[in-house]
Amino acid sequence: MNVNIHNFNTIDFDSIAIQPEWNLPEKRENRMHSIHAYPAKFPAFITTKAIEKASQNGITVNNIADIFCGCGTVAFESVCAGRNFWGYDINPVATLIASTKSCSYDDCRIEAYYTSILEAFEVCQIDEQNSVYKNERINYWFSKTQIDLLLRLRTAIYTSVDNQRYLNFFLCAFSNILKPCSKWLTKSIKPQVDPNKAPKSPLEAFAFQINMMRKANKEIEGIRGVAHINTANFLEQQFDEPFIDLVVTSPPYVTSYEYADLHQLSTLWLGYTDDFKTFREGTIGSLFHSEDFQLNQDKLNKTGSEIVSSLAKVDRRKAKSVAQYYVDMQLAISKVAKMLNQNGACLFVIGNTEYKGIHINNAQHLVECLISEGFENIEVDRRKISNKILTPYRDANGKFASIAESSRKIYSEEFVIFAQK
Ligand SMILES: C[S@@+](CC[C@H](N)C(=O)[O-])C[C@H]1O[C@@H](n2cnc3c(N)ncnc32)[C@H](O)[C@@H]1O
Repeated sequence: MNVNIHNFNTIDFDSIAIQPEWNLPEKRENRMHSIHAYPAKFPAFITTKAIEKASQNGITVNNIADIFCGCGTVAFESVCAGRNFWGYDINPVATLIASTKSCSYDDCRIEAYYTSILEAFEVCQIDEQNSVYKNERINYWFSKTQIDLLLRLRTAIYTSVDNQRYLNFFLCAFSNILKPCSKWLTKSIKPQVDPNKAPKSPLEAFAFQINMMRKANKEIEGIRGVAHINTANFLEQQFDEPFIDLVVTSPPYVTSYEYADLHQLSTLWLGYTDDFKTFREGTIGSLFHSEDFQLNQDKLNKTGSEIVSSLAKVDRRKAKSVAQYYVDMQLAISKVAKMLNQNGACLFVIGNTEYKGIHINNAQHLVECLISEGFENIEVDRRKISNKILTPYRDANGKFASIAESSRKIYSEEFVIFAQK
């Protein structure tokens, strides 16, 4: 459906017809997309369709960006399609995965490094003074035996792999085995201990993981573009000159995921921080990231202001964090306008939600942002969400719930919003 300045606030976004073309891919996703679990990863085929759509609109797509690149879904698809890519994510675990996924590897070198890692592991001495033994969160999630084994494995990787690209590959593998090797409740979107879990053996999990990543690497038909992956707060980026033809992205969910908390095992083990909570700062959508409520309210656009006012009547704390979310998204869209070449386009995948009876119309807010930044040809389509496991649900009290616990489903559809500069 086409939306514009005259009709955007009268359209009932949630009744826009589902466009089946955005629901499912025509072919199976490349295995590379599954080398590391990532909450809210979006379907890979959306990138291909976005490139097609931009081309149909007369855009020559050479340079693609994802301003919230997560685990590099758009990155991988872009470089495989021979486009150059720029990605930004505040979380270093995300950018490690994205960097790993947007390169190809010589299988013989992987095998040689893997053999060296196993040899180094065998002779590696445990250093009881290592800071991992003092980290309260690591001790919470792992038994002493698991910490010993993981520390030996991590040390073996660092001492055996002397090339940054391959080091990323093995660290990414190490990162993805941390949850199965810990007490973390499997597939949970909440960090919680499973008292009945038998954690996997690190060496066996690593062997399985490397095997899977080698298979994925062999499936790549060729990486023909260059990926520039930045660990950075997108809101702090300055763009003096436009350089991007197409932005494809899915923004963080509004106050649903604490991305920093979900990645804590990796951030701690990979030495990105001693306190994962520091990564909540600057993360859009985090409940722990909000500034002065009054100042933010003054910055909100009309849609944002109406939603936040309704929320403030039922839950002031929630209203404060949603206000911050919308202010951040407004700034993000103004930066997208700056990075895009004239006629360039952007495609967003975003969901609406509800909190204590208040409809949180993120799609309408985003469309208003695009209109304010002078975007044209705005098209809004609706798609069904297929990723069941990590879709957040809220119960009747607005609390985060697992699928089994949930009494109502909030994100079963989402919007695909296309706009041109
Ligand atoms: C919905 S996820 C993107 C998932 C991605 N499309 C994929 O397929 O993996 C949103 C991402 O935004 C990132 N993020 C949140 N705040 C950010 C900020 N201020 N700057 C850059 N990235 C941010 C989160 O770390 C998360 O990875």
